[in-house]
Amino acid sequence: MFTSFPFVVVLVLCYCSKESSQSILGRPQLFGPSEALLKSVAQFQCELNIYPENETILFQLFKENRDKILGEYSSLDGKIAEFFMVINPKHEGNLGCVAKGQNNSNIEPTVSDTHYLKVVEPVNGAKIVVSSGPVEFVEGKTLELHCALTAGNHVSYKWLLNGRLISPSRLHYVADGRLLISRTTSKDSGSYMCVATNHFNKTVFTSNSSEVVITVKDMVSTPDISFTVLKQDPHSYSAMVTCQSAKGTPSVTFSLYNWTELVSSTTVEETKATFKVPLVLGQHLGWLQCHANNSDRIESSQMIPLEVVPVGGPVMMHYDYDVGENHAVIGLRFYCKAAKGSLPRYQWFLNNTLLHHRERFFYVVNQASEQSILLLSVGRSSAGTYHCEVSDSFDNTTAIRSKRLYLDKEVLNRLPVWVVAIVFGCFTALILLVSICCCVGAMFRRRQYGEKSLSLEMDGRVAVYEGELDLSEYHEDADVVNTARAGEFDQASEASVDEWPQIKACLKEVEDLTC
Ligand SMILES: *[C@@H]1O[C@H](CO)[C@@H](O)[C@H](O)[C@H]1NC(C)=O
Ligand SMILES: *[C@@H]1O[C@H](CO)[C@@H](O)[C@H](O)[C@H]1NC(C)=O
Ligand SMILES: *[C@@H]1O[C@H](CO)[C@@H](O)[C@H](O)[C@H]1NC(C)=O
Ligand SMILES: *[C@@H]1O[C@H](CO)[C@@H](O)[C@H](O)[C@H]1NC(C)=O
Ligand SMILES: *[C@@H]1O[C@H](CO)[C@@H](O)[C@H](O)[C@H]1NC(C)=O
Ligand SMILES: *[C@@H]1O[C@H](CO)[C@@H](O)[C@H](O)[C@H]1NC(C)=O
Ligand SMILES: *[C@@H]1O[C@H](CO)[C@@H](O)[C@H](O)[C@H]1NC(C)=O
Repeated sequence: MFTSFPFVVVLVLCYCSKESSQSILGRPQLFGPSEALLKSVAQFQCELNIYPENETILFQLFKENRDKILGEYSSLDGKIAEFFMVINPKHEGNLGCVAKGQNNSNIEPTVSDTHYLKVVEPVNGAKIVVSSGPVEFVEGKTLELHCALTAGNHVSYKWLLNGRLISPSRLHYVADGRLLISRTTSKDSGSYMCVATNHFNKTVFTSNSSEVVITVKDMVSTPDISFTVLKQDPHSYSAMVTCQSAKGTPSVTFSLYNWTELVSSTTVEETKATFKVPLVLGQHLGWLQCHANNSDRIESSQMIPLEVVPVGGPVMMHYDYDVGENHAVIGLRFYCKAAKGSLPRYQWFLNNTLLHHRERFFYVVNQASEQSILLLSVGRSSAGTYHCEVSDSFDNTTAIRSKRLYLDKEVLNRLPVWVVAIVFGCFTALILLVSICCCVGAMFRRRQYGEKSLSLEMDGRVAVYEGELDLSEYHEDADVVNTARAGEFDQASEASVDEWPQIKACLKEVEDLTC
């Protein structure tokens, strides 16, 4: 019985509507475009299928709630209403139509379904507003651009940098006509443009902004400072001080300080500046420092003393050598050093002919201002008289010569017998030392003290190498070398005395193994 209840209700309703069809209204239907251009004229129709005869029906077009009436239409035959509207932005939204009796409040009003109207205003007047402030700033800041329009709705935006589309990323946020770039770098510099677009009935409206040039400056890096000396006339010198940063977007302001006192300042379109400062040779003229800045931050170089000591003698030349098989000298090293001079230039001569930097049988190594080394392979072509000259790098008239030294293979190999003896002795000592080390190593390895044995082996090698070097110096300063060697020997024996019983046992072991 309960299940048949709805059916009964429907039947009753049908019966009623049929009976009083003359005085009631059906639901109106609203027809019209779903989108319209702003300021165009749009036509809407409201239709009734069921309506009373001889009754004036009032149709009202409304938006959202029925207070906002957009248009009214009285229909005598009650069937259809037409509305013509000049579209304005307020028309956008859910529209509806209500039908009611004009002078007859007995007729119950009826309302149509809603009909959505989109109002399109073509985009126009796009323009970039830099919300974050100035168009030129230093890396790391956030750039915020806004694409402002004088007209347009339902707009989609695109951003272009130097004509290329900017796609959203972790650091590039694009939304609602805004572009946000966090942690900018100089790569974000360039010409920005926004393109605003909207559509109406397959027509695309576009507005391009004019371009806005954004400059993101790379912060200038810590500058390096150095100077060269310029000789102007025989008694007047200048220091050409160079301040240079590896990176930084111009323009950069470089300032040269003498301790805390500003000497000079210049703004350049590169990352390097040179200052000319008067110089007196041999005098300490203070401490120089470069400051560089292209933003609100100043980068400072280290401080260097402005002091140029001219080259002074005596110029010493000495040599050492490498011994090959048969105790023949195969390689030779000449060393050249001046007593003083902060900017020396070294030149090497063979038979009074200047040797150019690199040739077949020799090679020059300059160790800053310390000394110069000439590496020679001993052969027929390298025979001759050698000397070196040192001059101020800024003034080649000041050259000071070393003593001359004649060398050829025969002279070298006619080394005194005692030298050969010492070399041989050292060689024997070396073999002994290595064996001892091996033993100790083997022994230690057994006891699983791998690390200690290694270090002992290293000590052995170093000691031998020094012995070789010392040999050559023997010519010049026999006493010093003797004491030095004695010292080494002490060290070596000290190391071995402690271990003696073990070493002896080990030596025995080695003998057993080899024999
Ligand atoms: C409507 O009015 C016309 C004439 O004005 C009349 O002939 C007709 O009978 C009326 N109809 C009803 C249902 O009142
Ligand atoms: C309906 O009422 C209005 C005033 O409210 C009047 O001007 C009009 O003549 C009336 N129409 C009819 C058909 O009675
Ligand atoms: C859209 O354009 C077509 C043809 O271009 C036209 O027939 C149609 O009426 C237009 N629609 C609107 C809503 O203007
Ligand atoms: C706007 O920019 C787009 C993309 O760069 C271009 O294709 C178009 O021609 C431009 N339109 C105008 C009016 O400048
Ligand atoms: C630096 O300052 C000292 C004294 O403060 C002065 O003697 C020297 O000449 C200055 N050097 C330069 C390059 O200006
Ligand atoms: C240098 O002079 C010596 C003679 O004094 C000569 O034997 C030697 O070949 C010369 N060396 C060169 C490279 O000219
Ligand atoms: C010194 O240098 C100048 C220019 O660098 C050069 O012309 C001149 O020959 C050189 N003089 C000597 C002695 O090397």
